[in-house]
Amino acid sequence: MAFVNENYGNLKDSYLFADIAHRVADFSAARPEVKVIRMGIGDVTLPLAPCVVEAMGKAVQEMGKKESFRGYGPEQGYDFLREAIAKYYRSFAADIAMDEIFVSDGAKSDCGNITDIFSDDNTILIPDPVYPVYLDTNLMRGRKIIYMNGTPENGFLPMPDEKVKADIIYLCSPNNPTGAAYTREQLAVWVDYALKNDAIILYDAAYESFVADAKIPRSIFVIPGAKKCAIEFCSLSKTAGFTGTRCGYTVVPKELIRKTKDGKEFSLNKMWLRRQTTKFNGVPYIVQRGAEKVFSGEGLAQCRANLAYYQENAKIIMEALDTCGIRYFGGIHSPYVWMECPRQMNSWDFFDYLLTKVGVVGTPGAGFGKMGEKYFRLTAFSSRENTQEAMDRFVKEFE
Ligand code: MLT
Repeated sequence: MAFVNENYGNLKDSYLFADIAHRVADFSAARPEVKVIRMGIGDVTLPLAPCVVEAMGKAVQEMGKKESFRGYGPEQGYDFLREAIAKYYRSFAADIAMDEIFVSDGAKSDCGNITDIFSDDNTILIPDPVYPVYLDTNLMRGRKIIYMNGTPENGFLPMPDEKVKADIIYLCSPNNPTGAAYTREQLAVWVDYALKNDAIILYDAAYESFVADAKIPRSIFVIPGAKKCAIEFCSLSKTAGFTGTRCGYTVVPKELIRKTKDGKEFSLNKMWLRRQTTKFNGVPYIVQRGAEKVFSGEGLAQCRANLAYYQENAKIIMEALDTCGIRYFGGIHSPYVWMECPRQMNSWDFFDYLLTKVGVVGTPGAGFGKMGEKYFRLTAFSSRENTQEAMDRFVKEFE
């Protein structure tokens, strides 16, 4: 008899964004005449940067010739890409060695897969509201989860409580869903807490490229001591429009050493290498050549132009909310604007209202945790025209 993992019984029936996609598909099937504008899942709309496409095209040609064809690559990524990423880190003063960088098919996969190298006896500290992957992947393992609340009072940036003992802490900055970003001083407090408790911080930096102020850290590794207590996840999805192309990277410092319950020491870098070489066959060469180009001067400039376009969309959203007198967070260092639901609505009620009355899709705050109730997330990733149209419709309804 094959038994299944009973922990799946503790999950909601479907993943948040799959649930939303179904609801929108049902609505569009019933009301095909409505032009639905999607500002729900954080999916980009601008194409890949021209120099990235060119690099991928060249790689395709190489793959078509006997002399330059490549089969399996290194599971942890080609050196050319890992070198480019290490250089990128140096550009904002984080010293990361090439063999601490693991190229992958994205931050979402790695945020989930990293659970493999930790004991199920750990207590997991998760912010609420939060990107649902952290919670769901730990529920799948049956781990003990404790929460720290994000509230308007703490700017949706919960800080450590010395009375709470956590072993693994998830932080996401700039934050999904709230758009809030930790300062250097705040991150230093977290690093201090983790070092004191021998804990590990799993730091999701997928939105680092949206940071608009040099005082806000783009990596936890700019904080002294972080290499002894943190793993960082990064993504090219939002930075360079790779949501469909798939490429990200995870930094596991060599200084990270932790023990098994019976006291045997392990290097987390070696464990992650062992995990990846066993369960992953690497990102396609063609994609890695494109990713390498993202980190070139030309690539960074072209990607920055796309980010500026989304940042302008975020301004349009924030201006519309200002016009309606609706309080919001984020939108500055982030493509996400986290708003209070108008008229005291619950977030799923507001989702339905916005979809059916205004033809706009967003993400209900409650989908990110109980503290997200009565909040709603809009993304700046639509086209300019759609963002403008959505917010014109919004103002008409809610001014
Ligand atoms: C989101 O909308 O929260 C993100 O796009 C989800 C993801 O990156 O997986």
